[in-house]
Amino acid sequence: MTQTPFIITLDGPAGVGKTTLARCLAQRLGLAYLDTGAMFRCLALKLGSGAEKLPEAELRLQCARWIFRLNGSGEKTVLTCNDIPVGNEIRTEEVAMLASRIATVPLIRDMLREAQQSMGRCSSLVTEGRDMGTVVFPEARCKFFLDASPEVRALRRQRDLEKRGEKADLATLAALIRQRDHQDRNRAIAPLRPADDAHLVDTSSLEIEEVLAHLLEHVRHCGGPLPR
Ligand code: DC
Repeated sequence: MTQTPFIITLDGPAGVGKTTLARCLAQRLGLAYLDTGAMFRCLALKLGSGAEKLPEAELRLQCARWIFRLNGSGEKTVLTCNDIPVGNEIRTEEVAMLASRIATVPLIRDMLREAQQSMGRCSSLVTEGRDMGTVVFPEARCKFFLDASPEVRALRRQRDLEKRGEKADLATLAALIRQRDHQDRNRAIAPLRPADDAHLVDTSSLEIEEVLAHLLEHVRHCGGPLPR
C-alpha cells in the first residue's frame, strides 16, 4: 500500500528565514525540501527582464523550455532546471525583484504551480514560498506562516550577504524588502497571506534553533514524521 505524501508548508515574506528553516526541517525529518522562490528566481533569470510584458503565447513557449525536478532529500535535496542544479546565481536582490515581478503573471504561476504539485504527488515534502498553504497545497496536513519585522529581516539578509563576502547597506535592504513585501502581498493572484489553518510563528526575537524546535513540535502534533 502506498502512503499519501505528507506535505509541510512554510510561507512568509522575504528574508524571514524560510529557506534555511525548510532545509533544516527537511534534514531532521528525512524529507526533500522544495524552495519555490528558487523556481521563480531561476525562471526570472532565464526569461530576462520584461518577460511579464510578453504576449501570452510567446511566454507559454518560453516557459515550456524549462523543466524543474527535485532530487535527493534533506540537506542533499537538489532542485534542477533542465537537469542542471539551480545555484547561487539566483541569490541576488536584482533577481529577487525580477522574480517578484514575473510572479504577478497568471500563466507563470499556473505553470510553476503544476510543476510544484506534481513534485508533491511523488514524495513527502517540506515546501516553502508565498502561497504553499493557500493555493498550491491547500490540503497539506501541516502549515506554517513565518513572520518577522522588516528591520529584523533586513539585518538577517545583511548578515547572510556578509557571510558570502558581500556588503550591503541596511537601509537599502530594508527598503527593498518593504517594496517586495508590498508587491507580494498586494498582487491579484495568490497574494502572500497565511492560510486560515496555518500555525503563525513570529521569529523576530527567536534564534533559528528555537524556531526549528517549535516547528518540529508542531509537525509532531499534526501527525507528521518524527525527527531522526
Ligand atoms: O522566497 P524568495 O525570496 O526566494 O522568492 C522570490 C520571489 O518569488 C518573491 O518575492 C515572490 C515570488 N514567489 C512567489 O510569488 N510565490 C512563491 N511560492 C515563491 C516565491
